[in-house]
Parts: sequence; C-alpha cells; structure tokens
Amino acid sequence: MYFSNTFILLITLLFTMLTLNVVTALPLHRRASYSGDGTFYTVGLGSCGKTNSDSEMVAALSSSLMSGGKNCGKSLKVTSDSGSVTVKAVDTCPSCAEGDVDFSPAAFKKLGSLDEGRISINWSFT
Ligand SMILES: *[C@@H]1O[C@H](CO)[C@@H](O)[C@H](O)[C@H]1NC(C)=O
Repeated sequence: MYFSNTFILLITLLFTMLTLNVVTALPLHRRASYSGDGTFYTVGLGSCGKTNSDSEMVAALSSSLMSGGKNCGKSLKVTSDSGSVTVKAVDTCPSCAEGDVDFSPAAFKKLGSLDEGRISINWSFT
C-alpha cells in the first residue's frame, strides 16, 4: 500500500492536535467551578456531625456533592453580583441542585441581603 507524504503529514498533524487537546483539557477537570442559586437556612447539627451556628461562615451543599461526607470541612469561595465569601461545607442540602449552596445567614449577608432570599452565585472549592 502506498501513502503519499502529504497523507502521512496530515495524519501526523491530526494526531498531534488530538494529543494537545487532551493535555490542555486536563486542568478543567482539576479545578471545577460551579454556578447555581444561593439561599440561607437555620444552622444546627449538620450532616458532617458537628453543630454550628447562624453566625459562622458555613454552608450546606447538594446531596450529590456531600454523599458519604466526601466534602465535609472543605472550603469554598463564592461570588455573587454584590460580594464574595469563603465558607466551610458542614451540612447537606437535599433540595439543592448540584451547584446550589445553602448558607448560614451570616455568610449569605456577605453575598446579598436576606430580603432577596435567593441569589445567583458562582463558586469553586479552594
Ligand atoms: C457567574 O459567571 C458567569 C461566567 O463567568 C458570569 O457571566 C456571571 O455574571 C457570574 N454570575 C455571578 C452571580 O457572579
């Protein structure tokens, strides 16, 4: 079978592009960022087994992110249109979609006013 130099060059180029694409896509998986709704709740005994209070910078995450307690104690940096805050994950929010975060009232106040009740947020684990 005969392959022209041009054909071989094209295949090499294609392979190189695929390889580069795999390499440059990797960092996206390392540092996931989430977006969703931020709400607040009355803090108490959390699913991580500790009792916290409304005045602490803590939050509850979706069931999919907290199953098995895998993110208990992790910090997340959250931004809204009017502020930002770093909170610790201490509880599960069963009604939250994956990227939603349910905050202590004190943490929520750093992102908006309690009157708003529900706000748009972006966040990632620190
Ligand atoms: C979330 O991030 C998106 C994309 O960068 C941006 O358009 C949006 O304004 C951000 N929303 C908030 C509430 O920070």
